[in-house]
Amino acid sequence: MPRIGPYELSNPYVLAPMAGVSEMPFRVIAFGMGAALCPTELVSAQGLMRTNTRTLRYLRHDKAVEKPYCLQIFGGEPEVMARAALVGKDWGAQIIDINMGCPVKKVTKTQAGSALLCDPQRAGEIVRHIREATGLPVSAKIRSGWDANNRNFLEMADVLGAAGVCALAVHPRTRAQGYSGKADWNVIKELKRHVGSAFAVIGNGDVKTVEDARRMQETTGCDMVMIGRGALGNPWLFRQLLGGDAPSPAERQALVLEHLAAHVRFIEDPMGAVRAFRKHLAWYAHGLFGASAFRNDINRIDSLEQVTERIHQFFAAADVDAQAAEEYDVDYRQALG
Ligand SMILES: Cc1cc2nc3c(=O)[nH]c(=O)nc-3n(C[C@H](O)[C@H](O)[C@H](O)COP(=O)(O)O)c2cc1C
Repeated sequence: MPRIGPYELSNPYVLAPMAGVSEMPFRVIAFGMGAALCPTELVSAQGLMRTNTRTLRYLRHDKAVEKPYCLQIFGGEPEVMARAALVGKDWGAQIIDINMGCPVKKVTKTQAGSALLCDPQRAGEIVRHIREATGLPVSAKIRSGWDANNRNFLEMADVLGAAGVCALAVHPRTRAQGYSGKADWNVIKELKRHVGSAFAVIGNGDVKTVEDARRMQETTGCDMVMIGRGALGNPWLFRQLLGGDAPSPAERQALVLEHLAAHVRFIEDPMGAVRAFRKHLAWYAHGLFGASAFRNDINRIDSLEQVTERIHQFFAAADVDAQAAEEYDVDYRQALG
């Protein structure tokens, strides 16, 4: 079984860190479905030093379920990153993951995120400082490079390996590519071949189905597979990866309601929580008959009671349509996106 530092994971499937998505409620659901690791979304090192309400929300986790609890942080200054990681450790972080892939200007202009791909030495210093300050296992998540002329993932692997990372996740698109085009899995294969068993290689990018994940494992030899967009509205993917079933309509309805309730407890502001939950509802509804009308409705509803009622109605109706689709020999799972 794959290892991250001292932690032996139960399987090789990891939920990707996703801003505004990989919050405690969704992480707990993904763990419950079998994901072996669910890092937090990126959290600002500067923000951690101030530990305001918003940052504290990022640090909340469920100790009983999130084993190990992996905190992703971003920043460009090794000393600041080390101090921030210590704050994270005080709040229970067991693995510190460093974001070296975020393409957003607000992040890159502070030498953080994917800007670290342009400064491997600084990236290595960040890993060293955090390890020395916290004693925790440190992982990193990179892209293949800044742009097509600067695909330096092997150099990054060398520098970060020498600095002592326990795992390296790679999203094989350049910063310039953003999310366009296809993820180049050859990058994952080359990276794995290059680092051997020095540390775990986590492949990421465009895994939407069980078959995709198997193909990534077989063709690249990566130690773990990280899934982002494929798990949106479909945390059951982790269960299916471990041989389990796609959800029954009743199960889907129950989980959506449970997720909403957990989200409301998490945000502690029912109206704000309902608004923030709309994107999850759209993803859960994706591929179900009547999804666009459902989306239009929920985008106009702020009240928790009304949205709960609408979820009851929609997912019950979607149930009937999905079964009808199956009768017409349509692949049920595919119909669900
Ligand atoms: C909404 C969204 C938010 C993201 N936020 C983060 C983040 O906070 N940290 C990070 O390292 N990557 C982030 N990513 C990138 C994903 O972790 C992942 O690398 C990317 O989506 C490709 O994987 P996929 O094809 O499985 O989605 C984000 C992606 C999405 C779609």
